[in-house]
Amino acid sequence: MIVLGIETSCDETAAALVRDDRTILSNIVHSQLDDHRAFGGVVPEIAARAHIAHLDGIVETALNEAGVGFSDLDAVAATAGPGLIGGVMVGATMAKSMALASGKPFIAVNHLEGHSLTPRLTDDVEFPYLLLLVSGGHCQLLAVDGVGSYERLGTTVDDAIGEAFDKTAKLLGLGFPGGPAVEAAATSATEPERFPLSRPMKGRPGCDFSFAGLKTSVRQAADRLPQDENGALTPNDQADLAAAFQTAAAEVAVDRTRNAMQMFLETRNSTKATLVVAGGVAANSKIRAALTGLCDANGFAFVAPPPKLCTDNAAMIAWAGLERHRLGQSDGLDFKPRPRWPLTELDPVA
Ligand code: KG4
Ligand code: ZN
Repeated sequence: MIVLGIETSCDETAAALVRDDRTILSNIVHSQLDDHRAFGGVVPEIAARAHIAHLDGIVETALNEAGVGFSDLDAVAATAGPGLIGGVMVGATMAKSMALASGKPFIAVNHLEGHSLTPRLTDDVEFPYLLLLVSGGHCQLLAVDGVGSYERLGTTVDDAIGEAFDKTAKLLGLGFPGGPAVEAAATSATEPERFPLSRPMKGRPGCDFSFAGLKTSVRQAADRLPQDENGALTPNDQADLAAAFQTAAAEVAVDRTRNAMQMFLETRNSTKATLVVAGGVAANSKIRAALTGLCDANGFAFVAPPPKLCTDNAAMIAWAGLERHRLGQSDGLDFKPRPRWPLTELDPVA
């Protein structure tokens, strides 16, 4: 079984082909970073236009690289939400058109389900597992019981963790995208313990997150430091503050996940408990290391997909489509793309 996946929900134009033996036949990602950099963030209108400009070529490259033609496909899957709706419509319409032209089923994939099922593509993880989903738009702890079957144990009450990385980077003058910039700057910190930043929610019951207070404490610390005439911090202060932020963010993630582990174990009698971290922030090596330690201390196996499959890509969309297709599910060509589409609104696919 071979499924084509298309991803266009944010600033990556991507297409991939995945086979049911968990082989990624091709995985093409075109990042639009250069189109958005001057604006310090993703501009939805520019993103939608760039998807239109690039998607044809990206799909063609994905098919050619895999050596696969229309007739070899079993289904065509695309992200149908949540995300920037202009872009989502470009990808979903392309997939519907290909499905119609080739007579293959169309599968509307929830982008978050793409991230969530990635560990089954990379590591063949069995249901149920505990998932920490950390991206630019989301920060959630979920019990994943099956395809389409999610229980949300906790979520953020304000910013997503990736958003906090991006805003911190902007504040420190580290540029865009923020996550990798903060991680890179932090590696040259000389005094990473210099700034005692707040750790919102740490020690509280439950496993909800909050990052607004951490962002404020980064700003307050930065305001007290010397700045040049353009308001820029010294590289040394940037690095120390980036490291302090990263440490605080990782500590919060560990604290919240520890509580979620307990909730997971209490409600699921799973003998092989596994924690999976997915989403763009899962590419962060400090956070991965902190979670590895947490798993070792609590008897959980730890699975983190390779960074390339943590950030947005189409292999995860093709895989989620494949999992749905082999359970007999497909969607009508009248499926309406959804800007908002929480995982908990999906129905279990038996
Ligand atoms: O999953 P993703 O590619 O897109 C969304 O669906 O949001 O996640 C993007 C987010 C951005 O906020 C980005 O700054 C963050 O993931 N990110 C990182 C790293 N790489 C990407 N955050 C921290 N450390 C990284 N190495
Ligand atoms: Zn994503």
